[in-house]
Amino acid sequence: MVKYPPGQRLSVQPPLKIKGTSKENPSSLLLRLLLSVSPYYISGSILAERLKMSRVGVWARITKLREAGLFIEASQNKGYRLAAEPDRCNQELLEAWLHQIRSRCKVFVHNTLDSTNSEAERLLANGENDPFVVVSNHQSNGRGRLGRKWYSPKEGNIHISVAFRPNFNLIKLRTFTLWQGVCISELLRSFCTNESISIKWPNDLVIYGKKIAGMLTEASIDCEHVRTLIFGIGINLNSTSNRYPKSISRNSTSLKELYGQKIRTHEMTAKLIKTILKAYKKCLRGNSEKELIDNWEKLDALNEKIVEVSIGKEKIKGKALGINGDGNLKIKATNGRIRFLHSGEVTVSKW
Ligand code: BTN
Repeated sequence: MVKYPPGQRLSVQPPLKIKGTSKENPSSLLLRLLLSVSPYYISGSILAERLKMSRVGVWARITKLREAGLFIEASQNKGYRLAAEPDRCNQELLEAWLHQIRSRCKVFVHNTLDSTNSEAERLLANGENDPFVVVSNHQSNGRGRLGRKWYSPKEGNIHISVAFRPNFNLIKLRTFTLWQGVCISELLRSFCTNESISIKWPNDLVIYGKKIAGMLTEASIDCEHVRTLIFGIGINLNSTSNRYPKSISRNSTSLKELYGQKIRTHEMTAKLIKTILKAYKKCLRGNSEKELIDNWEKLDALNEKIVEVSIGKEKIKGKALGINGDGNLKIKATNGRIRFLHSGEVTVSKW
């Protein structure tokens, strides 16, 4: 858990603009009210009035939320306050955070799943309206790029998939993951006050050469049109990388290790969802190639590095020189030829 600062003042009023809607889950509204005054207390009678229920009803809701793992402090003359954030993602608290940052999107939170991308695929096949988000605290069969497995510890990391029915031309897909990478790297930089978080083309977020996140975009295409699109990302958040499997622990780290303290899972997940939705809209609008290249340059982990790119059985050695407007990696090969690569696995000789 991540403790909130102590609530020194007695209780404070939540902003008047916080009102529930008829559709809103009362527990989400309750958490939204608690969050809006956090770290202070809110009195039981104000909660009862805003939730249109008795104080006993409020107490019963709070008991249920506590049972679900939330840390809500009660004090006789002050009321209630959120004392800490649980490490595991909780549906109602995530919904409250999404409201708080004015981002609306349907979310499905699970404790464990095979893979959030697979679940999103199933929900799309069952006709779920887009966009929606699938979150899972753990994945038993997380999928990575090139048919690899994505490792998930029991808790501590973020695994989410956002699903869309875009109906746009296939061309826009070329830079979709790269735009997501740019926007998400900026979010992570702002969270950790660390300007060294960068993107390793095409789908890794790294810091000093160690992986902190991986992105996986999957689409179904019909006659050059993207019918369904699933963007999945796994972020090493509050986990300890030396407990990861040997094969990946040396080349991985987590944001907690970087920042020196745990990060609030719900705040990060909500802001991540908002960022992904915004980057998607940017892509739909048809962003400018120059804007992508300019943004990429500031975040490019491979810039001027000596790399080896494997494309199937072919291996290309050379110097990485950024990307072009189509999102292809530009390489000056050792024979002096300039190559633009649209896929491949990059290894860096020296970080
Ligand atoms: C990679 O680096 O190879 C991409 C990893 C993508 C992992 C995420 S975790 C959430 C989503 N669900 C999955 O099964 N995979 C993606």
